[in-house]
Amino acid sequence: MSTRAAQLLSRPFALGSATLPNRIVMAPMTRQFSPGGIPGDDVAVYYARRAAAGTGLIITEGTSVDHPSAGFSADVPRFHGEEPLAGWARVVEAVHAQGGKIMPQLWHVGIQRPAGAPPFPDAPPVGPSGIGIDGTPAGTALTLGDIDDVIRAFADAAQEAERIGFDGIELHGAHGYLIDQFLWERTNQRTDAYGGDPLSRTKFAADLVTAIRERVAPDFPVVLRFSQWKSENYGVRLAENPGELEALLTPLADAGVDAFHASGRRYWQPEFPDSGSELNIAGWTKKVTGKPVITVGSVGLNKEFEPGSLNGATAAVESIERLLDRLEQDEFDLVAVGRALLADPRWAEKVLDDRIPDLVPFSKAAVETLH
Ligand SMILES: Cc1cc2nc3c(=O)[nH]c(=O)nc-3n(C[C@H](O)[C@H](O)[C@H](O)COP(=O)(O)O)c2cc1C
Repeated sequence: MSTRAAQLLSRPFALGSATLPNRIVMAPMTRQFSPGGIPGDDVAVYYARRAAAGTGLIITEGTSVDHPSAGFSADVPRFHGEEPLAGWARVVEAVHAQGGKIMPQLWHVGIQRPAGAPPFPDAPPVGPSGIGIDGTPAGTALTLGDIDDVIRAFADAAQEAERIGFDGIELHGAHGYLIDQFLWERTNQRTDAYGGDPLSRTKFAADLVTAIRERVAPDFPVVLRFSQWKSENYGVRLAENPGELEALLTPLADAGVDAFHASGRRYWQPEFPDSGSELNIAGWTKKVTGKPVITVGSVGLNKEFEPGSLNGATAAVESIERLLDRLEQDEFDLVAVGRALLADPRWAEKVLDDRIPDLVPFSKAAVETLH
């Protein structure tokens, strides 16, 4: 007999040229298991294992675009160069062979770049204004020429993604990395066309999306991930109310974003309680843009994402009934699962089958290996 979870989560979803087999999405998670920036066969097996067990869409770990300052470490996969792209092509093939869909998360870390990160150890951290997440001077401000280079690097990556068979792309516009650094007033103090007021702060992301749209098929899905919170700085926000959220996202939707991935840490949390609405950040995003949305944040777990999560701070399995209630009300379209799906590659299959007690809780073991 079909479970409630299966009824709600097994419905296919059309996103541009991609028809996702169900509503379950693997959240992007940096693993640093790609030596020299090349995703190997173990990476392909890791993603294919989740596709085989019913994860409808995989969003890959963040993967660096072709700009000297883009990368985080030598073991984060690159999305440029012959060998990394050949590695990614094998990942795509393996996931498709299991009936899954997959999109790379295109990433530029901006001023969060650790000093000396390969393959260009001399490249400085760069950002809109040479200001770090904590508001103090950090890195180098991008010139207008640099901005053109970065936009070209993202557009090149999107074109390559389509060429090697990915089902769309996700832009990492969240958590205080480069795109988000432009969106956020604290890190963007520019006085040119890319800063100054909320609309100008959206220009970098909007220009990126426009440049990508010119290089890929009109129905090739472009997803943008954004967040209120920043790395290790969970209290800060881009938008204080629905009006500010609409002002932030409308230019991006107009530029050609097909779906938003609203990165929150607790999916049940009302985003703007003063409004009297229970909608979470994904729900509000759908309401103000009319675009499909992915929700995320502690799905199936009793503890939210925090810095310790990256090192395997434990979280126990929790019911998803509240999630299903919200999905049933069409608050969001797709559900991304992070740590729970790292811990248990068969998460989707077990949940669809109502085998919650069989799920593996999140622990250190989940981050230590590429299983
Ligand atoms: C090990 C790890 C690595 C992550 N790396 C990324 C990343 O590369 N890009 C990104 O947008 N979010 C990243 N995240 C955040 C997750 O995508 C997700 O938003 C977060 O874990 C909350 O979802 P969860 O509660 O289901 O784990 C990472 C999370 C973890 C645990």
